[in-house]
Amino acid sequence: MGRFPLVRLRRLRRSPEIRALVEQHRLTVADLIYPLFIHDGREKQKIEAMPNVYRYSLSNLPQVCEKISKAGIVAVALFPAIDNSCKDNEGQEAYNADGLIPRAVRQIKHYFPRLLVITDVALDPYTSHGQDGLIDDDGYVLNDATVDALRRQALCLAQAGSDMVAPSDMMDGRIGAIRSTLEDNGFSETTIISYAVKYASSLYHPFREAVHSKTLLKGDKKNYQMSPANRNEALREAQLDIDEGADVLMVKPAGMYLDIIAELRQCYRLPLFAYQVSGEYVMLKMAGKYLVERDCVLESLLAIKRAGAEAIFTYYALDVAQWLTDDR
Ligand code: PBG
Repeated sequence: MGRFPLVRLRRLRRSPEIRALVEQHRLTVADLIYPLFIHDGREKQKIEAMPNVYRYSLSNLPQVCEKISKAGIVAVALFPAIDNSCKDNEGQEAYNADGLIPRAVRQIKHYFPRLLVITDVALDPYTSHGQDGLIDDDGYVLNDATVDALRRQALCLAQAGSDMVAPSDMMDGRIGAIRSTLEDNGFSETTIISYAVKYASSLYHPFREAVHSKTLLKGDKKNYQMSPANRNEALREAQLDIDEGADVLMVKPAGMYLDIIAELRQCYRLPLFAYQVSGEYVMLKMAGKYLVERDCVLESLLAIKRAGAEAIFTYYALDVAQWLTDDR
């Protein structure tokens, strides 16, 4: 170990050029996945709980996707905001081949074959009770019956043309079940992004409002989503999903769980994604009142990359694409 004045760490911080050379992590537009809410109306719709985020109609999609691709964003993740009248106890709309999301996928892949389309596998936007799975008389979410429904949903999404399916439901055994269903039906190329480590977070409320499930949901999701108190369990969840055939692991939320991202990065060699969730988005928006929004957002995303994530779901994707272009 050298000592001052032989070692002067400021030598490597002297100029933007030197700083660029020694930089370990960099945020690029190709790291970003843009979540898109879709609804069955005609116009784009404001989401009160998420400033500057919209529910898009199918007719808006070509234009929106054009903007997204032009910005250099390579992937979108679709979430349905269906009418509550189309929801039922079993969430059967989740595997309707002519449902909103399958139609949206077909449309996007028709106009933008290169844009990667990720679809969510979980029942909550479709159930009349807002839980991610089927429930018994006491409202308890049933694991194995739910997994059967998720198989059907994943297959339906793959048949519509999804490049990647992303189970976000936290049922046990669903990755293996979905993988074998996809294999058995000729979808061996469909990628599975597993929300392997999803915490029962207080940061999902704006999302639930976006998909109209907030008012339907009684209680919480703590008997299937993970406790924010636990870290070992995150490794067990990840290991199981790897064994069951996941291609990519995901941690969610991102910003408050950087230790989990870092630990998974250290323990496993799979690509790792993180989801900067709706509540994180809203916190950063609000912070913009007192701090510089752009700088805070870029710092938050760089921190997620530094922790070990390769790609990030963020509602800021389009803004970030613009900011990174402005910087060049
Ligand atoms: C549903 C799902 C949720 C999110 C993504 N998929 C909500 C939940 O688990 O209640 C949240 C994303 C966000 O808050 O941005 N399975």
